[in-house]
Amino acid sequence: MEDSAPPFPPAIFPSETRPDPMEETLRPATLGRYVGQTEITDNLRVFIQAARNRGQPLDHVLLSGPPGVGKTTLAHILAHEMNAPLRATSGPVLERQGDLAAILTSLEAGQVLFIDEIHRMSRSVEEVLYAAMEDFRLDVIIGQGPMARTVKLDLQPFTLVGATTRTGLLSSPLRDRFGIPCHLRLYSPEELREIVIRGAQVLAVALRPGAAEVLAARSRGTPRVALRLLRRVRDFAQGEGAITPEGAAHSLDRLGVDRLGLEAPHRALLELIAARFSGGPVGLSTLSAALSEARDTIEEVIEPYLLQEGLIQRTPQGRVATPRAFAHLGLTPPAPVQLGFPEG
Ligand SMILES: Nc1ncnc2c1ncn2[C@@H]1O[C@H](COP(=O)(O)OP(=O)(O)OP(=O)(O)O)[C@@H](O)[C@H]1O
Ligand SMILES: [Mg+2]
Repeated sequence: MEDSAPPFPPAIFPSETRPDPMEETLRPATLGRYVGQTEITDNLRVFIQAARNRGQPLDHVLLSGPPGVGKTTLAHILAHEMNAPLRATSGPVLERQGDLAAILTSLEAGQVLFIDEIHRMSRSVEEVLYAAMEDFRLDVIIGQGPMARTVKLDLQPFTLVGATTRTGLLSSPLRDRFGIPCHLRLYSPEELREIVIRGAQVLAVALRPGAAEVLAARSRGTPRVALRLLRRVRDFAQGEGAITPEGAAHSLDRLGVDRLGLEAPHRALLELIAARFSGGPVGLSTLSAALSEARDTIEEVIEPYLLQEGLIQRTPQGRVATPRAFAHLGLTPPAPVQLGFPEG
């Protein structure tokens, strides 16, 4: 559900993981307004058109990718483009088989069922989905023990849209039942610039040339971060009429967002590996304990951008800080251990 609990425990680092009410206003409603991810949206357009021509619901869609990259937004857009109502729920909310069965039996023909955080659904609930997805059928067990029998109920054909930050946690029977798997990636600075410009139009705030670029460069490839930074920078620019590049940079410095878009938790992680562990390798459990952050938060929220930017590397022994990380932190990398014979 849109307003259900955040996917991670409230930590010191809520910016990517916690949607806020303003996001509804800023959500594009059509595929045409959805910026970027063109390999995915181009294909979706074809599938949507084909399904509409056949008068059938769209095949089931799995949206995966880091937090804040537009999975929920795309789910809503799919329903809109299929002209179908959307019913939203989430993995952790569906505690028992009956919870899901009640939703499935109440779906109208063609409706889109959106299950957010689908990787957090229990296995027994998940099993109800198999027949529902494949044959639009519900197998209900009535009674207990030797008297128990299975009753098959027909369901209206529907489209399941699942969203997850962790495809790896999805069982393969479930994953294989999605006809259209889509992996959303982090956005380029150009795409983020466009998202910032559109966001500014919706918020009716003026951007001077160059201001959107400053915001885009510090948004870590994530639309949610870009739009959040835009709103904060707008607060600083209140009374000045427009956001200038210098104003934006100054505000972002004050917010603790550095030139690469790193915030305190990213720098804490980098500094830990670079300074305290001499560049690593450091295991995930050690990082988690030292930073008091959940392993999931480190892997799913903090690390993807550091990996993409080549600031850290994952090795079988653990995380390693790259020369770029040392340079960014203004630290000197440790001298490589010299092997050889003493002089003389
Ligand atoms: N491609 C896009 N074009 C324009 N705006 C976008 C795009 N993708 C995301 N946004 C905006 O970014 C914000 C976050 O997007 P969204 O809630 O869909 O992310 P999410 O992937 O569902 O995140 P989570 O994993 O936390 O659920 C929303 O305000 C949305 O409007
Ligand atoms: Mg979402």
